[in-house]
Amino acid sequence: MYISGAKNAAVAIIPAALLVDGPCRIENVPDISDVKLLEDIIKHLGAEIRFEDKNTIVINSHKLQSYKASYERVKCMRASYYLIGALLGRFGKAEVPFPGGCDFGFRPIDQHIKGFEALGAKVKIEHGIVYAYADELVGNQIYLDVVSVGATINLMLAAVKAKGITIIENAAKEPHVVDTANFLNAMGANIKGAGTDVIKIRGVDTLKGGATYSIIPDQIEAGTYMLAAAATRGDVTVRNVIPKHMESLTAKLTEMNVKVIENGDWIRVIGVDRLSKVNIKTLPYPGFPTDLQPQASVLLCQAEGTSTITEGVWDSRFQYIDELKRMGAHIRVEGRIAVIEGPTRLTGAPINATDLRAGAALVIAGLTAKGTTEVHNINYIDRGYENFEEKLRALGADIKRVEDRLSGPANCK
Ligand code: EPZ
Repeated sequence: MYISGAKNAAVAIIPAALLVDGPCRIENVPDISDVKLLEDIIKHLGAEIRFEDKNTIVINSHKLQSYKASYERVKCMRASYYLIGALLGRFGKAEVPFPGGCDFGFRPIDQHIKGFEALGAKVKIEHGIVYAYADELVGNQIYLDVVSVGATINLMLAAVKAKGITIIENAAKEPHVVDTANFLNAMGANIKGAGTDVIKIRGVDTLKGGATYSIIPDQIEAGTYMLAAAATRGDVTVRNVIPKHMESLTAKLTEMNVKVIENGDWIRVIGVDRLSKVNIKTLPYPGFPTDLQPQASVLLCQAEGTSTITEGVWDSRFQYIDELKRMGAHIRVEGRIAVIEGPTRLTGAPINATDLRAGAALVIAGLTAKGTTEVHNINYIDRGYENFEEKLRALGADIKRVEDRLSGPANCK
């Protein structure tokens, strides 16, 4: 099974291309709806986009006119916040509706704003729109109070063409932070330290473009299939992965007695009959990714004994558990901890995806369950997984996409 390009890198790199005075050729772009939406958004800002094939695009924003993103288009997607940093860096002004995205409780952008203000921007939020203006962006030292992927990347976007040096401390270290920095450096930026908790950016006058950049494999997509393999007692090899990015998951699977073999750019996961219980705490990278938390819960339903999952990043990310309980799971939630009793054989039921990763987890639950499961609101899954059901079918899954008569198009908050 071949892993696609990383969603959380692509949704940062596409806005980053707005900072480049010339063509950017981007390969290994995942064919997912979040990317389609972003391409539509930047096209409406005046960028030219050409597809060489479904995973290769050429963006040229030399004719970019507007710094105002439309509400209708951005309200559904969290990563639209990257337009603020990119347009501020490009024009010294940005008017972008407050970002939407998955409902994990309170999702502030105070660290983004604090950083933009430290670079000399005036920022206000009115009528659901973030207004950011700067006569001149000047490098500064910014300490992030929380480790935030979005704030780290957004400040990199705003700082690459700022005057002087910017230092971001307590920065996020996720692979997609590094990938965005590498893309910008390939276009002429001067960023050092991405992947560590101190990033140093020396502002440049222009980003020339003209280069080709290939997006990294998707760590979360790979983890989703590795967990599906273990949960279905399967034997799956995920290819085009970076094993280093998977270490926290590989360690947990091994602790559960699952067989994991790594080699070069592939990882093989061989499921076992008896799974040991474990405790998982989600943390910023290199900790266990919160975006694999729902999928891991499904696996823990089959482990022998009491396992726990502690959500260390988001306030509330257990909305999907009620759906697993419909399937017979024994889980109780105590604040940010889910206590999971196993082994439990789940039973098929009509269930609803509540967000992107929950959707993927519920499909895995359906693959392990007795009888038929119907997962509704699968547009959430299309936001972040390329050819999800085709890839699962190629692994032997009995899965098909059918017309959803129960619920209309999911609205997004
Ligand atoms: C990114 O969201 C990812 N989204 C999320 O993946 C992922 O869950 C998250 O990072 C954590 O890894 C994208 O990359 C598009 P954060 P982001 O800023 O940037 C708090 C998926 O499924 N915080 O790292 O929004 C915040 O409340 C999605 O692909 C502040 O307090 O996350 C949270 O508790 C879902 N103030 C923590 O930091 C701020 O200004 C981490 O948030 C910013 C964040």
